[in-house]
Amino acid sequence: MNTPLLRQPHFIQLYREDRAAVRSELAASLLAQPASLAPKYLYDPLGSRLFDAITELPEYYPTRTEAALLAEHGAAIAASVPHGATLVDLGAGNGEKAARLFDLLSPERYVAVDISVDFLRTALQCLQRQFPALDMLGVGLDFSAALDLPPEVGEGPRLLFYPGSSIGNFTPAEALQFLRQARAAAQGGGLLIGVDLVKPREVLEPAYDDALGVTAAFNKNLLLHVNRLIGSNFDVRDWAHVAFFNGEQSRIEMHLQTAREVVVRWPGAERTFAAGERIHTENSYKYQVTDFDALLREAGFVRTQVWTDARGWFAMFWAQG
Ligand code: AVJ
Repeated sequence: MNTPLLRQPHFIQLYREDRAAVRSELAASLLAQPASLAPKYLYDPLGSRLFDAITELPEYYPTRTEAALLAEHGAAIAASVPHGATLVDLGAGNGEKAARLFDLLSPERYVAVDISVDFLRTALQCLQRQFPALDMLGVGLDFSAALDLPPEVGEGPRLLFYPGSSIGNFTPAEALQFLRQARAAAQGGGLLIGVDLVKPREVLEPAYDDALGVTAAFNKNLLLHVNRLIGSNFDVRDWAHVAFFNGEQSRIEMHLQTAREVVVRWPGAERTFAAGERIHTENSYKYQVTDFDALLREAGFVRTQVWTDARGWFAMFWAQG
């Protein structure tokens, strides 16, 4: 009898959504002066689809620049990073980006980490059919709070993969803390991380305020998500998308701005927003290569290497424990 041995991915769910905590966090940030909403709430099912659409926009250069970087320098990157390690994909989503590294890096195991284990389930089952020999584990974890990988990830050195310049959502101080945790979690392996770089405002701003208005829809959809989470009555038609480069802080800021005075109500509270008032919804920090390298070293990484594209728009760093 010829019974093929079909591996199945395994799953661990560590993140437990605490609805009461989410509600009080959102209410507090809406009542604060100035008001803000955390960018993690941009990613409800529609928001995740809108973000995927953003990555296809002509103005949004990061995704395709990073993909081209990995394609062009894949062999050099592969020569620097450990082979046969456990590849830990931080914010894996559909696992597509990491899958492009499988042939190059021949990992022993693939560990996909994301907050939504349900999304990981579908994605890993699909990937497991394409790569039947690779051991796969899905971990449902909110690593933005603390990068505590469970023991099931295994004992050997780990190759942490953090693409897309998601690090840009952290302030530099938070980024440093995250990098320290990443170094500890790598267990002697290292971190392969994509970082968006400072570039002319004329390139940065359209990437976050595109002609089709997809980023505007992505930003405004946050209000629909918040309406569902706390029962608020935001009317998206009152709010305009605002995105600009703050050169002093070296970050793109996204805000929602109301043209007229509005009163937003939800069970237990309300807030009046004056005409012209804004809600700060996202920061996306842009680094200089030397500054990010210094941050990696401050976090304790001893050897670093960097690859950039010809225009110097995006960087892929390899940082070894
Ligand atoms: C997913 C955080 C990397 O900052 O470029 C895209 C999110 N916001 N357009 C970024 C985003 C508006 C994106 N990151």
